[in-house]
Amino acid sequence: MRKKGLYVIVMMALFSWAWVSSYSDEEKTRIDNEEFGNPKRVACVYDHDEHMEASELEECNVCHHLYEDGKKVEDETSEGESCAECHEVNSSEDTLPLRKAYHTRCKGCHMTEKAGPILCGECHQR
Ligand code: HEC
Ligand code: HEC
Ligand code: HEC
Ligand code: HEC
Repeated sequence: MRKKGLYVIVMMALFSWAWVSSYSDEEKTRIDNEEFGNPKRVACVYDHDEHMEASELEECNVCHHLYEDGKKVEDETSEGESCAECHEVNSSEDTLPLRKAYHTRCKGCHMTEKAGPILCGECHQR
């Protein structure tokens, strides 16, 4: 009888944990991964404003760079354009494919700065 009571309490705790975590999951801001069609991973968690503050970045074109005729235009940004407009999902001739563009930019900085997530599950977080 006592054991059954404990079982019920454990199950109730598990259910409420599952409910809370599924609920908070909806609150996370993520990078749009629709471009990938059939994504393998859950989209990367990323809150644009929070990240600006946390990383203490000031230049927008660290990410939103602008290229013209294959050359980077310094001091200009492409902030209205999505990465996918220039970086196609499937590798084209001479631009990085979209996944690589993201991983190189995002993970790349986290590794050199020794700050920010570098493990798959830290970014592609349920
Ligand atoms: C710094 C954050 C970060 C890390 C770490 C990271 N990714 Fe990503 N990844 C992204 C972003 C941003 C995208 C672009 C779209 C999105 O959000 O899924 C992406 C896209 C992808 C895609 C293409 C979309 C899809 O789901 O099919 C795959 C596959 C992927 N990542 C796998 C991985 C694997 C495997 C690892 C670990 C080896 C990893 N990623 C680590 C940020 C990250
Ligand atoms: C660390 C990288 C990074 C930095 C720095 C950054 N952004 Fe972004 N921004 C992104 C990513 C990633 C997206 C989503 C792009 C996509 O969907 O292709 C985005 C999207 C946007 C969008 C489109 C918004 C939307 O809802 O679709 C605007 C506008 C924008 N950024 C403006 C800025 C401005 C202004 C700055 C500088 C104050 C800035 N960004 C700095 C990474 C960055
Ligand atoms: C106006 C078009 C354009 C937009 C928008 C754009 N890129 Fe690029 N990007 C290029 C071109 C062209 C190159 C040079 C060829 C190459 O290496 O792919 C490049 C190079 C890169 C590189 C390798 C060189 C470097 O700077 O480290 C990364 C990483 C990258 N882009 C990530 C991104 C990400 C992430 C976004 C969105 C936040 C983005 N790009 C938006 C055109 C663009
Ligand atoms: C130029 C450097 C730089 C670039 C580029 C960059 N990050 Fe970061 N990121 C940081 C730093 C530094 C931190 C650690 C901030 C702190 O101390 O919490 C961080 C933290 C994070 C965190 C955890 C903290 C939070 O509040 O967001 C996530 C998630 C993240 N980055 C995702 C991304 C993604 C996705 C991209 C690419 C679109 C990206 N980062 C590009 C420097 C960068």
